[in-house]
Amino acid sequence: MPHLSQKTFCLYTYGCQMNEHDSERIAGMLESHGAVEVDAIEDAEIAIFVTCCIREAADVRLMGQVASIKNIPLPEGSALSKRMVCIGGCIGQRDGDALPDKLAHVDVVFGTQNIERLPYLLEAAISEGGHHVEILEKSDTFSTDLPAKREHPWSAWLPITVGCNNFCTYCIVPYVRGRERSRALEDIAADAAALVADGVKEITLLGQNVNSYGRDLYGEPRFADVLRAVSETGVERLRFATSHPKDLTDEVIGLYATLDNLMPSLHLPVQSGSDRILKAMNRRYTAERYLSLIDAVREANPDVALSTDIIVGFPGETEQDFQATYDLVKRVGYSQVFTFIYSPREGTPAASMADDTPREIIQRRFDSLVDLVQENAYAHNQRFVGRTLAVLVEGASKRDERVLVGHSPHNITVHAPIPEGMDAAALAGSTVMVEIDQAKAWYLSGAMVRA
Ligand code: 5AD
Ligand code: SF4
Repeated sequence: MPHLSQKTFCLYTYGCQMNEHDSERIAGMLESHGAVEVDAIEDAEIAIFVTCCIREAADVRLMGQVASIKNIPLPEGSALSKRMVCIGGCIGQRDGDALPDKLAHVDVVFGTQNIERLPYLLEAAISEGGHHVEILEKSDTFSTDLPAKREHPWSAWLPITVGCNNFCTYCIVPYVRGRERSRALEDIAADAAALVADGVKEITLLGQNVNSYGRDLYGEPRFADVLRAVSETGVERLRFATSHPKDLTDEVIGLYATLDNLMPSLHLPVQSGSDRILKAMNRRYTAERYLSLIDAVREANPDVALSTDIIVGFPGETEQDFQATYDLVKRVGYSQVFTFIYSPREGTPAASMADDTPREIIQRRFDSLVDLVQENAYAHNQRFVGRTLAVLVEGASKRDERVLVGHSPHNITVHAPIPEGMDAAALAGSTVMVEIDQAKAWYLSGAMVRA
């Protein structure tokens, strides 16, 4: 057993929910070895970076962050001779041995496939000094076997698949997260039941593409079975992320009409509204097919709030292609859209595609889309005014401690004043009813009607 007793660590997490989940496992695992999590780097003897390389900005930011902690002194009384700096996650997986060359004060590098090795690598770095780099191409285990330290006791991530087989031409994920592997349905159901018994109210099923769950185990996707099995645990709120439109089945869509605890929100990344660009991205659906899925979802449950991801400026995107994206966004009326400017990732097919659209044109397209998204979200949210929504409370607003913040079933942020005699800490993790009287683009506000 590595000796990490009383060693303090702090975690920096970047990127997607899979990384957030990995960080919860890392924290749980290190605490099971006796280490103690702290919030501030000044108090930490060990700094751990769980990294993302999906766009170039994330890379650049990481290098800056790691460099910036170099001269911060160790906490007083530490027996270590230097702060241990560990880089894991997707950049760890991608760069491996090259990282200590770029950042000499890095002690440990691990990847996406071996987070359970971190305590051992750390112990070796502490006792022997030097750089300890270990990257595995693929793993037979799931990080779900490790203890988790959940950020909120009432909400949990539950990975059902890891990795991705889709190879969208712009995307680095299949290269750093490996091939798709599904967990056994019984294991997922058992984990979900244990979470519910532990007081969890909200479970989010995780995978790069949850809709292709089971292809490696049963020969066909059986994501609908996972949804039904987890729904049966009686969890109050069931969500999932992320979906690929090409694998979203009618059976799954139908569950929006029949499973009461499947929350009325769906994140369905479209990436582009142009068939030509979708083809170049290797997305394997057309805009028309995507829109027919949206219609089917709305038919199953008209209350579903839709969100999506869009890439602007994919190589060769013309004004006409962009217009098709703009029109699609307008037509769907999303409650939220995550817009990204295309960022070439070395080693992906798109990185070698001709790309001669001037930066200013891409920026103009991006800005006009962001304006549209804001208008759409504002218009979409007006439908909640006058309705009373169940809100799962997270705590007090950062700006005003007399205002609570939580999420509606549609996953929209809700604010409400905390009634006299109640406090945010006591309300956190409970579900309250809020009558909505105002809707902005990014949040709703109203008054609590009863606890
Ligand atoms: N450039 C810009 N955006 C990207 N995404 C993935 N790869 C890239 C890239 N190379 C976006 C996609 C994906 C989201 C998580 O990140 O929209 O759905
Ligand atoms: Fe990347 Fe496409 Fe896989 Fe999503 S489905 S992780 S965009 S390759």
